[in-house]
This record gives sequence, structure tokens and C-alpha cells, in this order.
Amino acid sequence: MVYIAVSVALLCLARLPAVSAHARINTPPIRSPGNNFLQQCGQTSFASVQGDPTGHIEEQEPVNAGCDLTLCRGMLFSDQPASNVQTVKASQAMEMSVDCTIPHGGPANVSLVDTTVGGSGEFVGSFLKTFDNFCPTSGPTPADQTSLQFNLPDANTIGNKCQNAGDCVVQLFWATPDFSQNYYYCVDVVMAAAAPTTTAVNNAPATTEVANTINAATAKMITATSAAAGGSATALAAVNGTVASASANANAGRRRARILWF
Ligand SMILES: *[C@@H]1O[C@H](CO)[C@@H](O)[C@H](O)[C@H]1NC(C)=O
Ligand SMILES: *[C@@H]1O[C@H](CO)[C@@H](O)[C@H](O)[C@H]1NC(C)=O
Repeated sequence: MVYIAVSVALLCLARLPAVSAHARINTPPIRSPGNNFLQQCGQTSFASVQGDPTGHIEEQEPVNAGCDLTLCRGMLFSDQPASNVQTVKASQAMEMSVDCTIPHGGPANVSLVDTTVGGSGEFVGSFLKTFDNFCPTSGPTPADQTSLQFNLPDANTIGNKCQNAGDCVVQLFWATPDFSQNYYYCVDVVMAAAAPTTTAVNNAPATTEVANTINAATAKMITATSAAAGGSATALAAVNGTVASASANANAGRRRARILWF
């Protein structure tokens, strides 16, 4: 009897879920598993991420050689729909909407990561946001943890990085040291194309431009008139004279009309 009770208790223990923490990112869309990720990281890893988009990387092992779990859980840009890539600007304010589905506390932070640098990528600038106790186990979740608000690094810090979709992600990294669990959530971002330079929007160059246009038109008219008249100065004077006499004739006609009327 005692033997049976112990067996049942052991069975129940074995069926208890592993203690883990979870955070679900509602918006913006985070990297999701796809076929290239499956090839790169293997079936266990793929099934783990597909089964729980909020899970930790320790659940994904073992993985294929060359699969780097510490960068977006190994998920690849090539699997993402283009519409998931957020077009952003330097210094722009961003927000991540998060649900602490299984709170567990521990440090967390948000950073811009250049994924083109091998391995787990490289931070661009400093942390955009840090938490000492993310998704805490006691008390309500602080408002700035369900609505994570931060600004991207400035233009000088970003430089020419993040110009191509797939190069950079905004990453939320959360660890629960008590259980050695590590969570990575990645949002793909790309820098908006630089605006055209505005130095031409200025009165002085515009005035010069108009003057140049008028001069060019006048030159064309003069050339055309000159060509029509045979090109010689004498001929041009003749044209002038014809116009003058035509106008004189018109006036004479008006005078005649007036005389007839009275
Ligand atoms: C960032 O988060 C990681 C994961 O929790 C943690 O190990 C690290 O100490 C944090 N760093 C800062 C500066 O917040
Ligand atoms: C055309 O007539 C005007 C006004 O009489 C004069 O000033 C100008 O020099 C003349 N042009 C030519 C090509 O003769």
C-alpha cells in the first residue's frame, strides 16, 4: 500500500511542469519559427519554439552546430514575412506590449542588436531600457513592463548600420537566474531611407534659377527671331520695322473707323 502511494506521488512529481517564466510580446511582431530555422537548429529546437513562442532557450536543446540560440532563439530573418519588419528612424520612440504570462522576476533589458556581427550579434549603443525585476512574482506588474517604452539610439550611434532589413533587431533579453533560464524576443527593424537634402529650398538659389530660365528663354527667342529673319542685324531691324509699321497701320485703321462713326 505504501509502495503504491509513493509510486503515485512520484508519478505526479514527474508530470509537474518544469518551473519556468514566460512573457508574451503582443506587439510589434517578434521573430517566428520557419523552415530555414528548422534546417539550421533542428527539429527539437523548432518544435519547442513552435509549441511555445514565449519559452526559454534551454528548452530548445540539443541544437545543430551553427545554431545560435542567444540571438533570437536561433530564429532567422529569412523566415520572416516582410510585413513584420518595422521601419524606424534614429532616436524614434518605440513601444513593446507585453503580457507576463508566467511571472518570475529577474533582470531584463532592451537593446538594438546588429545581427550581422557573428554569434549573438553586437549591441548598437547602450541599453535602451533595463529592469532589475522583470515580471515580478509578487505585486502587480509595473505599467512600464507591460508597455515597454524606449527610444532607439541616435543617428550618430547607429551610423550606417541597420540600413537593410534583417541586419538589426530590437531585442528584449530576460534571464531568471534562479532557474538559469534565458529568454530572447526579437523585433526586426530597418532604418527609413534618409530624406533628400533640403539645401535647395532657399530663396537665393530659386531666384537665380528663375533668372537663368528667363535668360535662357530670351536667348532662344532672340536666336529664333534672328534665324527667321535670315540672321543678319539688318534683317532683324527689318522685322522690327515691319512690326512697327503693322502697328502704325492698325492705329490708322482705328482712326478711320472713328471718323466714319462720327
Ligand atoms: C540585461 O539582461 C540580462 C538578462 O537578464 C542580464 O544578465 C544583464 O545583467 C542585464 N544588463 C543590464 C545592464 O541590465
Ligand atoms: C527694334 O525697335 C526698338 C524700338 O524702336 C529698338 O530699340 C531696337 O533697337 C530695334 N531692334 C533692332 C534689331 O533693330
